[in-house]
Amino acid sequence: MSDSECSRIDDLKAFDEAKSGVQGLIESGTTTVPTIFVRSTEDRSKDFDTCVENISVPVLDLANFSANDDNRTTEVAKEMVSASKEWGFFQVVNHGIPLETLDKMIECGRMFHEQDAEAKMKYYSRDFSMTFTYVSNHDLYKSTSANWRDNFYFNTTFSGKMDPQQLPSICKDAVLEYVNQILKLCDRVLMLLSIGLDLKPETLGELEIKKGWNLGCNYYPACPEPELTLGAHGHADTNFLTILLQDQIGGLQVLHQNKWVNVNPIYGALIVNIGDALQMVSNDQLKSVYHRVIAKNVGPRISLPLFFNGLFSSKKIYGPIKELISEENPPIYKDFTIEEMMTYFFSKSLDDLGIEHFKLNSIL
Ligand code: OGA
Ligand code: NI
Repeated sequence: MSDSECSRIDDLKAFDEAKSGVQGLIESGTTTVPTIFVRSTEDRSKDFDTCVENISVPVLDLANFSANDDNRTTEVAKEMVSASKEWGFFQVVNHGIPLETLDKMIECGRMFHEQDAEAKMKYYSRDFSMTFTYVSNHDLYKSTSANWRDNFYFNTTFSGKMDPQQLPSICKDAVLEYVNQILKLCDRVLMLLSIGLDLKPETLGELEIKKGWNLGCNYYPACPEPELTLGAHGHADTNFLTILLQDQIGGLQVLHQNKWVNVNPIYGALIVNIGDALQMVSNDQLKSVYHRVIAKNVGPRISLPLFFNGLFSSKKIYGPIKELISEENPPIYKDFTIEEMMTYFFSKSLDDLGIEHFKLNSIL
């Protein structure tokens, strides 16, 4: 190992052992971006351009229609599937979740990250089978450069149970209320996607993806040298579906026609994206699209993704849905279990290839 590699590992360990994340660096007066966060010249040279045109991911209006309104249901279902094919992302407005619930969630997420370092430290862990963890960069020792963000996770993927006792009191009520609402929205999205794919309305719900989920709370402090680093490397989500709440700062970008396109914040909206597992079971009808978060000199930015993973211990075998395969559309992916999917996720850095690993003809 070269001297610079050794010194990088020492720096990563020192950062990790401080257990106070990027926010801890800021609080200790850091005014430059430390080397462990700096993207390599090679990484930057491979980057895509940022789109300058004023285009954005589709915005779907879920107002005033119920499951009984067949025409409106079919219309929104088709819009949702086409957004999921072309962008892999869409925003939903008028989803029925009170704005206060969303505002409170962002505020309490902020409060968790901005409390004293000692109060957060006891949750700092890389044991992701635990229900509640606070950490910076889950892939710290695997990625080529660290991301300018801290996280907490409230994760039921392993236990299958939502245990309120595991939540810090500073955000307990907000999290429980928020999660309950998002679980209901997930049902609605899965039903609409099923209808839009000409499946029975309950088909995607039967995948049992709500049996295990992980609520993340990403905290992106303002960055003194934003051009040197990223808030989150380009990646595709490994799980089935993600529903994300962001504040009004902006920074999330999706890769569309080989350009990074900004996902502009809309107050009160939620962002939905398709993950690798849903792309696999839909046999490429729905797309899991690369996205990233740029670092900014304003902030902090807060976002809360709820990743629907399914239950880690489930014995269910997943593969392309039978109704979606035919002679013209033969299966593209191997069968997989949730355990295989999650184990693969934790074995790699965020920006490593994901879905290729599960292709039938994969050599990975
Ligand atoms: C993620 C992610 C986007 C955001 O955590 O997987 O893509 O806006 N986050 O923070
Ligand atoms: Ni993501």
